Amino acid sequence: MCRSSRTLIVAVLMTVLAALPVGPTAAARRDGIANVAHRGASAHAPENTIGAFRLAARMGADLFELDVRETRDHALVLMHDTTLARTTDVESVYPERAPWRVSDFTLKEIRRLDAGSWFGSAFKGARVPTLREALRAMRRTGLGLLLEIKAPHLYPGIERRTALELRRSWEGPLVVQSFDWDAMRAFHGLMPEVPVGLLGTPPAGELPGLASFAVQINPPYRDLTPGYVRAIHAHGMQVFTWTADDPVVMRRLAAYRVDGIITNRPDVLARL
Ligand code: G3P
Ligand code: CA
Repeated sequence: MCRSSRTLIVAVLMTVLAALPVGPTAAARRDGIANVAHRGASAHAPENTIGAFRLAARMGADLFELDVRETRDHALVLMHDTTLARTTDVESVYPERAPWRVSDFTLKEIRRLDAGSWFGSAFKGARVPTLREALRAMRRTGLGLLLEIKAPHLYPGIERRTALELRRSWEGPLVVQSFDWDAMRAFHGLMPEVPVGLLGTPPAGELPGLASFAVQINPPYRDLTPGYVRAIHAHGMQVFTWTADDPVVMRRLAAYRVDGIITNRPDVLARL
């Protein structure tokens, strides 16, 4: 890993944590564990919506996580799944357009969708945000951003377009992650100043090579052992693990000395 990347990620966390008010987040800060709201406070509000991100800020998160995909006309929008079916009313608005892939719709078409009602009637009318809308809504909140690029092989050029948007619309702490490690290597070439995270659980033997461009290894929590966390740290990288909502699990992960916990319930982690 290059020294500038390592310095940056430490600066990211220090900036975020230093800015926190006293209160429920103080415990997390003392432990040095970043509280990362997974798709926003997604246990309480529809995932990947601006409402979920704002709620995460109110619940004491340090960072918010989001998922970026691309429309047919190359707009960057926030959506976890390959299709729009689970988290919008696309099936009733466009019944003839199965299987409702994000990449088959224009931004104008996606703007007609309701991304809130599936979660609860109180959220009716929530929209699928563009990346730009989310960045601009959140950039003065003090939260850091953990941005996941979803399935970059489906959206050629998404790394470059994401980098452009980040340069234009985001000023705060930032980590960019993906399950596609080659895409992250490419992103590191585009924005070497931005810390890169790798989702998954690489074998310990691969950590030295990955540390040449990544600053985080971010595995599912069930894959973690204290020894694996130590191995990642020994290569100068951090561990943000996902998705832990149970306080018993959160405490165990804290004992493993992870650097961040990605949770649908940032309020629960903040209270620990
Ligand atoms: O940030 C970790 C997590 O978001 C990766 O899994 O499927 O929830 O995007 P997923
Ligand atoms: Ca994600």
